[in-house]
Amino acid sequence: MPDNQILTADLPAHVPGELVCEDYPFIMGANTAENPFRTMVPALHDGPDLIYSTNFYPGFQPAWIPRRLETVQALYMDTEHFSSAAFSPYPQLIGEDWSLVPVEIDPPAHATYRALLNPLFTPARLRGLEDRVREAARDTIAKFKDDGECEFMHAFALRFPIIVFLDLMGLPRDRMEQFLEWEFMLLHSLDIEDLAKGARLSVDYLREVIEERRKNPVDDLVSLAVTATADGRKLNDNELIGLCFNLFIGGLDTVSTNIAWQIRHLAEHPEDQRRLRADPSLIPAAIEEMYRRYAAVTTFRTCIKQTVLHGVTIMPGDKIAMPTTLANTDPAAWERPFEVDFNRAPRHITFAYGVHRCVGAPLARRESVIAIEELLAAIPEFSTAEGEALITELGPILQPKNLPLVWGGQRSRRAAAAVEPQPANLPQSGGQRLEGTIAEVTGFLAARLGSMEPFGKVIAMHLDGHELLLDGTANPPKLVTATDQKPDVTVRAALKDFVAILNKEMNPQLAMVKGKLKVRGDITSVMALTKLL
Ligand code: HEM
Repeated sequence: MPDNQILTADLPAHVPGELVCEDYPFIMGANTAENPFRTMVPALHDGPDLIYSTNFYPGFQPAWIPRRLETVQALYMDTEHFSSAAFSPYPQLIGEDWSLVPVEIDPPAHATYRALLNPLFTPARLRGLEDRVREAARDTIAKFKDDGECEFMHAFALRFPIIVFLDLMGLPRDRMEQFLEWEFMLLHSLDIEDLAKGARLSVDYLREVIEERRKNPVDDLVSLAVTATADGRKLNDNELIGLCFNLFIGGLDTVSTNIAWQIRHLAEHPEDQRRLRADPSLIPAAIEEMYRRYAAVTTFRTCIKQTVLHGVTIMPGDKIAMPTTLANTDPAAWERPFEVDFNRAPRHITFAYGVHRCVGAPLARRESVIAIEELLAAIPEFSTAEGEALITELGPILQPKNLPLVWGGQRSRRAAAAVEPQPANLPQSGGQRLEGTIAEVTGFLAARLGSMEPFGKVIAMHLDGHELLLDGTANPPKLVTATDQKPDVTVRAALKDFVAILNKEMNPQLAMVKGKLKVRGDITSVMALTKLL
């Protein structure tokens, strides 16, 4: 915890200085090579029950953060003092006026929408989807199961939930790449233009689908939504967009992240993996405990009526961030909170609590079960690739950026080093747009290196047929034609894609996920690379 005596100049009068936290670690845009669940989460419990982060709320605004399970549950229930309205920026970004339905709707109106959604996730409906979900998992795994290794985020975790979502919504599976791209713009970019573009493109597409299903309803979720009645009337356009958009942003990243943490746990705990292989009937119970231990989501509220929390006044307008991560590991609520115990049967709040409790939880659970069953059946004992750092993106969702797995005795040569060069780290091509010649890129990199401190690594960059060697051991770092030193990291990309990244026209992380930017090597050198860019 930080030195809590520091007071920011514009701290509201009702915020006690000793609760101020200026370095809450889960700040959007930050990455870590630590396992945050192992190091940061226990450390965060070593402090006051309520802290005031100066920058955790979206848009880097201040927010109160409770860490006790009891408090978080009470906040979820207290819809008199806390509202979930308008926490997402998307409608405003594209100049529209709708809310995420139902997550941004407060009671009593919320109940109407929720009643409409509940039947869409009944066990009977999910059973109808089950075969296709399993087939999607099998097909996705079949693409890498004989390789002895995979970059699990890229190969499975990010893709599988999108296929399931497309099936659920009745959308064609060939839209997968498109949705992946929109998801990254919406949820992994700090660039306001990316956010707006992702929102614009996905909303326009959803609007087209809604229009089409109005004319030709079929047996899918969008058709059910357009034909259903709530309080005796059909939903209007804004309500329908809000509903489809809520399902889109609610059901993709969350599922990818949870499956990835569950697989990472099994990769790092071979004894647990063997237990599930020996008795797959334990998988659902194991998943519940892993949902508790690796809860990755923080949800948000705004205070609408003055109240008191842990003896502290909370004023209307104050933002609240509720990390399920901390509530689920609260030492006051759980015995051995940091231990994964498959026999625990935890009543966790990974899917929230109260009226907004996740409507998609039954589907998410089936996705996890099927993913783990199919993976254990298809590949032998797996572990994380030796010597490769595992990077996590911090923020309102703690998402693994890379998960290199190996099995069958094969040593991985991949260093799928998915560090995201965040927009803040992106190249500033001096305000001018690069046209795309190798000479321009070379000039840009030479100038950038010349203004940097040594970073002690050699980076080899292959752009189409050109090889550039960046010597970060020199002072100042420079481009060289040859070096005795083996490169610490090798970057490969098509010149046009690299130029698009430099021009901020391509999201670097998405480029990695799509295999357009291939980074191999020691992860600390990749960090140097992001500084360079
Ligand atoms: C492991 C995966 C998932 C996690 C951890 C998760 C987590 C959550 C959480 C914490 C909330 C409460 C938000 C709040 O109160 O502000 C929520 C609500 C919601 N989730 Fe999920 N979710 C997951 C999967 C899904 C899926 C697969 C879908 C649908 C396809 C979905 C759709 C929704 C919707 C529509 C809401 C709003 C419910 C309401 O306001 O009544 N989620 N989810």
